[in-house]
Amino acid sequence: MRVLVTGAGGGVAPAFIEAFLEAGAELVLVGRNAQGLEARARSYGLPYRLADLADPLSTAALAEAEPEVDGVVHLAGAFAAAPLRESGPGLLEKMLEANLQTLYHTARAFLPALVRRRGFLVGVSAAAGLKCGGKNLAAYAAAKAGVLALLRSLAEEEPALRVLALVPMAAINTPANRRAMPGADPSRWIQPRALAEATLAALRLPGGRLQELPVYPGEPGRTHVRLDQ
Ligand SMILES: NC(=O)c1ccc[n+]([C@@H]2O[C@H](COP(=O)([O-])OP(=O)(O)OC[C@H]3O[C@@H](n4cnc5c(N)ncnc54)[C@H](OP(=O)(O)O)[C@@H]3O)[C@@H](O)[C@H]2O)c1
Repeated sequence: MRVLVTGAGGGVAPAFIEAFLEAGAELVLVGRNAQGLEARARSYGLPYRLADLADPLSTAALAEAEPEVDGVVHLAGAFAAAPLRESGPGLLEKMLEANLQTLYHTARAFLPALVRRRGFLVGVSAAAGLKCGGKNLAAYAAAKAGVLALLRSLAEEEPALRVLALVPMAAINTPANRRAMPGADPSRWIQPRALAEATLAALRLPGGRLQELPVYPGEPGRTHVRLDQ
């Protein structure tokens, strides 16, 4: 099973890389900047490809270079919080581009192969996306609500594709979050490995074209999972 992991240079990616490797997947890491991604790929002995996934020409080139893909785990995204009245004009564009446009163009590019191979697409929304809003989160929430809308639509259109919408319902224990919230207790957040395990467990379940998977923090290293079909 050949699986593309996007956002592979990000904070959540190592846990997914390790869990999918242990599950026997053959991985290709995808990122925008060589810096960081190259070292990460080398540390796992994995191939990597550079692509700006918000650019349809770039995703088309990526799909041409990787024609035999069984699954895409789309971790690419970005976060920013600000009250709307203090938000700069570029914030909405930035959130839409990183979270929604990347998913749209990646899904479009890989759809023929994924459908042919009866594969899967995993996207990541957020609590603010599921709730369709949140204080100081207008742009982010709009983009993450869009992620859910896209995945739900795709699941209705493509019966041969398994679509998994991950919805982390709290912060994830990543280096960036630990830096941003130095006073917080990361053991109370979602552990990335638990999120990756929940993803694998959901993908192993029989049936169901669309799974929406809200993931909550639990005991350190544990995550409570609720499956909403
Ligand atoms: N961390 C959390 O607490 C949390 C909570 C809820 C949901 N999520 C979602 O979970 C996913 C993974 O989170 P994370 O913490 O690992 O995020 P992260 O550390 O910010 O990493 C996101 C990655 O996405 C890549 N990316 C952004 N725009 C791109 C583009 N146009 N083309 C290609 N790659 C692009 C970035 O690459 P570059 O570095 O090269 O720009 C970055 O490596 C994201 O979708 C995030 O929104 C995270």
